[in-house]
Amino acid sequence: PPGDPKVGEKVFKTKCAQCHSVDKGAGHKQGPNLNGLFGRQSGTTPGYSYSTANKNMAVTWEEKTLYDYLLNPKKYIPGTKMVFPGLKKPQERADLIAYLKQATA
Ligand code: HEM
Repeated sequence: PPGDPKVGEKVFKTKCAQCHSVDKGAGHKQGPNLNGLFGRQSGTTPGYSYSTANKNMAVTWEEKTLYDYLLNPKKYIPGTKMVFPGLKKPQERADLIAYLKQATA
């Protein structure tokens, strides 16, 4: 089902924003700034110190890879330092990804 970015914005603000910013030039928090995420290879945001696991995970972030990653980040990238249990609900992930696509562009 297509995601609703308005709903996804609420998900991001409650579950992701404490560790990630999306605005260009906003800087890194505990996690990397996500501006420009779509189409970028994992572990390559300039100026952020990734775990070896995330750095060595060669995947391009787009709808499908984010959908799989956000279900269970530690399963998708074993050894990641992102402490987040994942989002089990397919619609919640779809909404979040619809928001991310807009907000990180
Ligand atoms: C990494 C998204 C929640 C901390 C990442 C990456 C993505 C992402 C896409 C990989 C970035 C890349 O490869 O360039 C999200 C989303 C979240 C979320 C959408 C909410 C659903 C969190 C939370 C925290 C966090 C709550 C902190 C408690 C981190 C850290 C990394 C990371 C530290 C780097 C991991 C490493 O180097 O191993 N996140 N994240 N994230 N995130 Fe999150």
